[in-house]
Amino acid sequence: LDGFFVPDSLAGRRVLLTAGPTYEAIDPVRGITNISSGKMGYALARACRDAGAEVTLVSGPTALPSPTGITVIPVQSAQHMLSAVEASLPGQHVFISVAAVADYRVANTSEHKLKKQDGGPPTLTLVENPDILASVAARADAPFCVGFAAESQNLLDFAEQKRTRKRVPLLVANLAQQAMGADDNEVVLLDDAGRHPLPRQSKDDTARAIVAHLARALASR
Ligand code: CTP
Ligand code: CA
Repeated sequence: LDGFFVPDSLAGRRVLLTAGPTYEAIDPVRGITNISSGKMGYALARACRDAGAEVTLVSGPTALPSPTGITVIPVQSAQHMLSAVEASLPGQHVFISVAAVADYRVANTSEHKLKKQDGGPPTLTLVENPDILASVAARADAPFCVGFAAESQNLLDFAEQKRTRKRVPLLVANLAQQAMGADDNEVVLLDDAGRHPLPRQSKDDTARAIVAHLARALASR
């Protein structure tokens, strides 16, 4: 049955996901973001819903339609995303962190739109954002956590290190330059049992395969 999608395999489970990029303001009309489209996170949210789960999706800015039957909480910045995740966390059985969270935000944001003549190019000071996945996984009441790793090199080594560092039982590894923004991807699932490569396929099919793996992991706990 490996990889097969089973209806109702997540019946009775509550699943919280993050998806999309975050947007870190520089001034009221400008910001720092990344090329995440949200497609993988939205596909996973729909796959969890179709498997019978009650789904909450905390989403950074994307151009995607809100999926029906899913509670969508729109956010902008990483700090905003963390607050929304913490507020939604009670009662969740699973947390899937798909969002491409900005690692840094601008410390010296400007209340007013920056003017070109204000003394040459501005200097942006960056401060590190909270690690949403690591902070959820470290909680005493942590749900089952699934992480993603977007790497551009040494995919499996870097991803293994990430799984260990963030203490997540299941991690989905993919090559950032292939996956981000694309309609299909090719991922490797990493868990205590080892490495489980999935074929290159649509993000919807990848999502269904991840849900099948997740449902088995939850059932065998
Ligand atoms: N993540 C998060 N909060 C952050 C950064 C990352 O929740 N501030 C989550 C992502 O949603 C993903 C996982 O952590 O599930 C790994 O994200 P990634 O960017 O690949 O790893 P980082 O730990 O940020 O390390 P680096 O960017 O240096 O590779
Ligand atoms: Ca990162």
